[in-house]
Amino acid sequence: MFGDICEYGLGGFAEYVCAGEDALVLKTATTTFEEAASLPMAGVSALQGLRDKGRIRPGQKVLINGASGGVGTFAVQIAKNYGANVTGVCSTSKMDMVLSIGADHVIDYTQEDFTKSGEQYDLILDVAAYRSILNYKRALSPKGIYVCTGGSMGKWVQAMLLGPLISLRGSKKLGSGGVAQPNHEDFLYLKELLEAGKVIPVIDRRYPLSEIVEALRYLEEGQARGKVVISIDDSGET
Ligand SMILES: NC(=O)c1ccc[n+]([C@@H]2O[C@H](COP(=O)([O-])OP(=O)(O)OC[C@H]3O[C@@H](n4cnc5c(N)ncnc54)[C@H](OP(=O)(O)O)[C@@H]3O)[C@@H](O)[C@H]2O)c1
Repeated sequence: MFGDICEYGLGGFAEYVCAGEDALVLKTATTTFEEAASLPMAGVSALQGLRDKGRIRPGQKVLINGASGGVGTFAVQIAKNYGANVTGVCSTSKMDMVLSIGADHVIDYTQEDFTKSGEQYDLILDVAAYRSILNYKRALSPKGIYVCTGGSMGKWVQAMLLGPLISLRGSKKLGSGGVAQPNHEDFLYLKELLEAGKVIPVIDRRYPLSEIVEALRYLEEGQARGKVVISIDDSGET
């Protein structure tokens, strides 16, 4: 089984947990526990940002800012499944990985600011908001949508408060994606994509339960590609 236990008191890392069955979904034998564990919050954030807030449609030009991280690697693949033309933004060393998971184009944010290139996108999913919201507006096509789901707290709040005001003028829509709402239906949808091989979790490192401190240190360094997961024992049970 896999799921999200936010509704059941959050918690820490442990071998056993008590949660309601609506928080969990059965995984199949073809999916490893590690793959299943990588999915819930990151996958749902990407899905809800693109589908619910971003109203993604086939053929759209979609940009994922922060494409190489936990949320971004799912967002690239989910957007491709919706038939979008996807541009991923990440740092130099992760460009190949972002292309390998299906992005049509990749932009190295250490070399180029996509908000200044003149290129415009129908949908921007921003999991790494570090710019002014007005810069993002410039990079939107006339009826484009900007959804902020992560990055600096200041920029997230800016998107939440100023986005709707800025959207009053003109046809571009800007705002925050809010906090993702994990739910059974979306887990089932993501599970189907996983089982069909349409979404493949990018797992950078696996740490045993006894090395959680090292795992969190590695995560804090910001160098991870995709997800870091905790394995309960050597058999791969996660
Ligand atoms: N709203 C929600 O419900 C929800 C749910 C989950 C996560 N989040 C938030 O989403 C954000 C991302 O989470 P995550 O787990 O994906 O983090 P992560 O795995 O650390 O990934 C961060 C991403 O941001 C990129 N990045 C860093 N600086 C950047 C810059 N200046 N320009 C463009 N990209 C940049 C990184 O690229 P490189 O690694 O290539 O440098 C990486 O792709 C966090 O702020 C998290 O709190 C929100």
